[in-house]
Amino acid sequence: MSEKRKELVVSAIENGTVIDHIPSDKLFLVIKILGLDNFNKPVTFGSNLESKKIGQKGIIKVQGKFFQDHEIRKIALAAPKATLITIKNYEVVDKRRVELPDHIIGIVKCVNPKCITNNQNVTQRFNLLDKDDVKLHCHYCEKITKKENFEFL
Ligand code: CTP
Ligand code: ZN
Repeated sequence: MSEKRKELVVSAIENGTVIDHIPSDKLFLVIKILGLDNFNKPVTFGSNLESKKIGQKGIIKVQGKFFQDHEIRKIALAAPKATLITIKNYEVVDKRRVELPDHIIGIVKCVNPKCITNNQNVTQRFNLLDKDDVKLHCHYCEKITKKENFEFL
């Protein structure tokens, strides 16, 4: 299936952001953690679309929204291979893979129920151990939180 066919599935936007190459099973998670289920401008999405890169993909298009760094980090934790495309006047003006910094502050909970961050008012701090199979090493309790255990704040 060509990209043109995909464009028919989810139509072009005038100004805003396209989040492409989201694994289909992470599509609704990304919508939720970005608060797009409560957004007041048009949000369109497609699920289980064909992709040469990742088999099946999800895509989200958000009118009138340009994501901040902390939002991009959320996307990167949920969908590390996602592409962020900025659209202005119907033109693609920027296209980049989402990126994760070496240190992650907040965003997800530490997997260890006894961790200080789960018991006191202390913000989560992790070192990123693996950029592809995302694994987070807790700065406080040293436990590893794997992506299948991510609980977004
Ligand atoms: N797009 C959009 N609105 C526009 C322009 C582009 O929603 N006004 C979307 C396209 O549907 C596509 C993405 O932005 O999903 C990237 O657009 P483009 O670079 O034109 O497409 P391709 O070169 O086919 O992208 P790729 O091969 O990287 O998927
Ligand atoms: Zn911890």
